[in-house]
Amino acid sequence: MDKIKVVIVDDTEETRNNIKTLLSFEKKIEVIGEAENGEEAIFITKEARPDIVLMDINMPVMDGIRATEEITMNVPETTVIIMSVQGEQEYLRKAMSAGAREFLNKPFSGEDLVRTLVKTYETEYKRREHSSLPKITEEVKSKVITVFSTKGGVGKTTIASNLAVSLARMTKKKVALVDLDLQFGDVAIMLNVSVKNTISDLIKEINQLDEELMDDYLVTHFSGVRVLPAPIKPEYAEYITSSHVEKIIKTLKESYHYVIIDTSASFHETVLTSLDMSDRIMLVSTLDLPTIKNVKSGLDVMESLHYSKEKISIILNKASEQFGIKYKDFENTLKHNIWAYVPEDSQTVITSANKGFPFVMTRTETKVAKAIIGMATEITAEKAVVEKEKSAFKKIFGF
Ligand SMILES: Nc1ncnc2c1ncn2[C@@H]1O[C@H](COP(=O)(O)OP(=O)(O)O)[C@@H](O)[C@H]1O
Ligand SMILES: [Mg+2]
Repeated sequence: MDKIKVVIVDDTEETRNNIKTLLSFEKKIEVIGEAENGEEAIFITKEARPDIVLMDINMPVMDGIRATEEITMNVPETTVIIMSVQGEQEYLRKAMSAGAREFLNKPFSGEDLVRTLVKTYETEYKRREHSSLPKITEEVKSKVITVFSTKGGVGKTTIASNLAVSLARMTKKKVALVDLDLQFGDVAIMLNVSVKNTISDLIKEINQLDEELMDDYLVTHFSGVRVLPAPIKPEYAEYITSSHVEKIIKTLKESYHYVIIDTSASFHETVLTSLDMSDRIMLVSTLDLPTIKNVKSGLDVMESLHYSKEKISIILNKASEQFGIKYKDFENTLKHNIWAYVPEDSQTVITSANKGFPFVMTRTETKVAKAIIGMATEITAEKAVVEKEKSAFKKIFGF
């Protein structure tokens, strides 16, 4: 067995020296570098490609959580072990969400340290051998569609879930449905799937994430759609970052023909990432003034992000001209044509949500089901993939 290559990251020199001394007695472990803050840690890890980084949490310049996230994303062959002080439970949780695989409570003995290092290394080593088996899958041409609105309650989840089910039934291709309404997501309820794991569990293994592991986290709806549910508690949402979302979408694209994403009504960084990575954005509106005003501002933001007009399709839900606003006026205000109209049909929509049976399967004769099946038909007929946009996240946050 090769030596386990380790980088030590801690802002206190004494701590680094103590760890080095503890490890110097171990023939199978070699310390190949050290760093005194997160930024240095990233640099050294990229250069030296250690097997393991021993990472402190609180450090000047850049803390261990940011650095862990960065390393997990960019150097997936390196595993991070967090060193935390008892009582830093909250930090520890964040570090684990950022991709750390193990933790050591300070102060630790030489024995603890070596045992944890070797155990973590062996687990990772086995996992890698397992996942490097040749795959016999064909390359998938994937389409990412985000269903979005700057207003809540307009029908995003209804449309996203019924659209996903329509696509799966119509094409027999692989369809994934991601619930990115991270605080109040209700896709799992809408489709009545029993939730074992959610996106919160998945991000704990984000640095190992590949197609196979992803499969373990998705629940199957009886239509064939595979669902990634939102966290079970709103407070878990804050641990999910744009880089997690990026990795999730990238991984799904490798094996799913259609990736449908339901969102919250906000330009949260995770939603922006999803919009960036989408081939199409379905922007949902209804025909009342507050919603129109909101959707208009949403469109302005998207314009400032330089999303092309073709990338955005406006869906008018609960469409009817009987409340005083004409479709044409709506289009003129938005400077956008309506791409699809979905009629209001509370009886069908609400009953089906309550039973967990998507109406595109059980009530295909209704106008509302036909509208969504029509959308799916149009999507499957399209060949051209809209040119990828530059990252809006980068444009707004400047890195
Ligand atoms: N076309 C429609 N006709 C009748 N009711 C609808 C329609 N679309 C959505 N609804 C209802 O409107 C409410 C909000 O829908 P939902 O899909 O949860 O919106 P969002 O995800 O945008 O918050 C739900 O009660 C849903 O059943
Ligand atoms: Mg919703």
